[in-house]
Amino acid sequence: MITFWRCHGAAVMSLWVFCWLLLGLWRLTVACPSSCTCSSSRISCIEQDQGIVAFPVLSSAIEMENITEIYIANQSQLRAINDIDVETYLGLRNLTVTNSGLSYVSRRSFQKTPNLQYVNLKNNKLSTLSWKTFRNLNLAYLVLTGNPFQCSCDIQWIKLWQENEMASLETQNLMCKDDSNRKFLLHEMHIPDCVMPTSSISPSSVTLMEGSDITLECRTSGIPSPDVSWYLGNLVTSYQQYNVKQHYTTLKMINVSSNDTGKTVLCIAENIVGENESSVILVVHFPPKITFLDQAVLDHHWCIPFSVRGNPKPKLIWFYEGAVLNETDFIWTSIHIAFDSEHHGCLQLDSPTHLNNGQYTLLAKNE
Ligand SMILES: *[C@@H]1O[C@H](CO)[C@@H](O)[C@H](O)[C@H]1NC(C)=O
Ligand SMILES: *[C@@H]1O[C@H](CO)[C@@H](O)[C@H](O)[C@H]1NC(C)=O
Ligand SMILES: *[C@@H]1O[C@H](CO)[C@@H](O)[C@H](O)[C@H]1NC(C)=O
Ligand SMILES: *[C@@H]1O[C@H](CO)[C@@H](O)[C@H](O)[C@H]1NC(C)=O
Ligand SMILES: *[C@@H]1O[C@H](CO)[C@@H](O)[C@H](O)[C@H]1NC(C)=O
Ligand SMILES: *[C@@H]1O[C@H](CO)[C@@H](O)[C@H](O)[C@H]1NC(C)=O
Ligand SMILES: *[C@@H]1O[C@H](CO)[C@@H](O)[C@H](O)[C@H]1NC(C)=O
Repeated sequence: MITFWRCHGAAVMSLWVFCWLLLGLWRLTVACPSSCTCSSSRISCIEQDQGIVAFPVLSSAIEMENITEIYIANQSQLRAINDIDVETYLGLRNLTVTNSGLSYVSRRSFQKTPNLQYVNLKNNKLSTLSWKTFRNLNLAYLVLTGNPFQCSCDIQWIKLWQENEMASLETQNLMCKDDSNRKFLLHEMHIPDCVMPTSSISPSSVTLMEGSDITLECRTSGIPSPDVSWYLGNLVTSYQQYNVKQHYTTLKMINVSSNDTGKTVLCIAENIVGENESSVILVVHFPPKITFLDQAVLDHHWCIPFSVRGNPKPKLIWFYEGAVLNETDFIWTSIHIAFDSEHHGCLQLDSPTHLNNGQYTLLAKNE
C-alpha cells in the first residue's frame, strides 16, 4: 500500500493527484500523517515545512475513537473542516486549529462528537461561521479571536453568545469588518433585521382521550423569517402539518394513540441567528386493559403475574371465588415495574395453603 510520506515525497504533480486520490480511497487506512505526531489519545500537527492540506486521519476508526485532543498549529494549507473530517473522532474533547489557513468549518462538522468541550480557532481566516456548527454541543470554550470576521447577520449569534456569557466568548475581544473595511468591536455591531427566533406552542399542556383529534398551534417570530419544524420523535399517531401563514403553523393529530402518552412534541424555529423551541407533553387517557394474566408461579412468594395498561393508573381489585378479596399481610398486590402506562406486577401469596385454592379474578378500572 502507498503510505502518506511517499505521497509527500513525490514531486510530480500528476503523482500528487494520484496519491491524493488514493488517500481519498484509503482514507481510513492511512497511518499518522507524516507531518503530525500521534499518541493513543492525541494528534498534534505543528510542522510547518510539509504541512497538512487536509484534516488528519488515522489508520483505523477504532484508533480515532480514542483520540481526545487534536492540536493543529501553523498549517497555512489547511483551509477547511468538512462534513466528515471530524466525525470518526467520537471521543474528541479538545480541538485546536490555530494560526492556520482555516476559512471554512462545515455546519455538520461536530454532529458526532458530543463530548467536544473546547474549540480553539484562534488566528485563522474565518470571515463567517454558523452557530449550526456547534449545535447540540455543550462548549465550555470557543476561542475565535484573530479572525477576519465580516460584520453581518451571519455572526450575530457570536455577539449574542458573548452577551449571554456562553462558551467563554465574553472574555474575548472580537472584531468584525464592514463592507468598507472599517473595524468594529463585535459587541458594538448593529445589523438591522437580524433577530433571534422564538417559538411558542399552544395549548401548552394537552390531556385528551385516546381516539380523539387535536390541533396544536405554533407561533414563531424572528428575522429573517425562521424555518419551522415539528419534532415528533417516534409518534405513533398520524398527523397532518399545515403552514397556515408566515409565523404560524399547525399540526393536526388524528385518532390519538394511547401509545403516545408521555411523548413530547417540539416546535423548532431557526434562522441564521439561532434557534428556539417550545414543547408540549401529550397525556393520553385510555381505559385499562389486562394484557397478561397467568398461573401462579413460585418466586420468593407465590405470585399470580399480571400486566395492565391504562392511564390514569388503573385501580386493581381482586376477586376470590367471586367475592372481593381482602388484601392482608399474606395476600397483597404489588406492582414491580411501570413503563409506558403498563403496570407489571403480582398478586403475592405468602405461604399459601389448600385454603387458598380457587379461582382468582382481576378487575382493573380507571375514570
Ligand atoms: C482505546 O482505549 C481503551 C481504554 O482506554 C484501550 O483499552 C484500547 O486499547 C484503546 N484502543 C486503541 C485502538 O488504542
Ligand atoms: C507557529 O509558528 C510560530 C512562528 O513561526 C512559532 O513562534 C510558534 O511556536 C509555532 N507554533 C507551534 C505550536 O509550533
Ligand atoms: C482541553 O483543553 C482545556 C483548556 O485548555 C484543558 O484544561 C484540558 O486539560 C484539555 N483536555 C484534554 C483532554 O486535553
Ligand atoms: C383509531 O386507531 C385505532 C388503533 O390505533 C383503530 O383501531 C381505529 O380504527 C382508529 N379509528 C379511526 C376512526 O380511524
Ligand atoms: C401500542 O403498544 C402495544 C404494546 O406496547 C403494541 O402491541 C401496539 O402494537 C402498539 N400500537 C401501535 C399503533 O403502535
Ligand atoms: C425560547 O425563547 C424564550 C423567550 O425568548 C426563552 O425564554 C426560552 O428559554 C427559549 N427556549 C429555548 C429552548 O431556547
Ligand atoms: C372481604 O371483606 C368483606 C367485608 O369487609 C366481606 O364481605 C367479604 O366476604 C370479604 N371477602 C373475602 C374473600 O373474605
